[in-house]
Amino acid sequence: MTAMVTLSQAQSQRAVARHGVTLTVNGADHALSIDARTSLLDALREHIGLTGAKKGCDHGQCGACTVHIDGRRVVSCLKLGVQAQGGEITTIEGIGAADGALHPMQQAFIDHDALQCGYCTPGQIMSAIACVREGHASSLDDIREYMSGNLCRCGAYVGIVAAIEDAAARMKG
Ligand code: FES
Ligand code: FES
Repeated sequence: MTAMVTLSQAQSQRAVARHGVTLTVNGADHALSIDARTSLLDALREHIGLTGAKKGCDHGQCGACTVHIDGRRVVSCLKLGVQAQGGEITTIEGIGAADGALHPMQQAFIDHDALQCGYCTPGQIMSAIACVREGHASSLDDIREYMSGNLCRCGAYVGIVAAIEDAAARMKG
């Protein structure tokens, strides 16, 4: 009997911990019922099915999960899904043109072979777009400094920096 009461209490606590949220991602609203502790990264990947943002460390140290909220870069593993309500969230799936054309930053990564395994690439590209918009891509040193939160275990940094320098010029044009 005690065990049954305990189970019932636990189920009740789990039910209370769920929250209804509406996340606006790439221009579309998604109504979710999620545990209040669900990270934005897990909400995107596990509840909405957008798996472009990657889980590298889940501790804010690698940048693989980078997305934009209202145009600013955010490591989505450190933000709760419920905190992202009301913002315009953009993921790697949402940066291309409506006709399917790649974003200039995506094209530049291809042109400069700025990847090997590709696992860090969505986060690199999202961070790089924000880096350019912030005005932090005016020199190679600037790019290295302001991209230092995005790690690449394959060591594709030379190509990544070259791609960002190239895309910065294309984005201005
Ligand atoms: Fe978010 Fe590494 S998975 S910073
Ligand atoms: Fe493999 Fe960056 S391309 S981790």
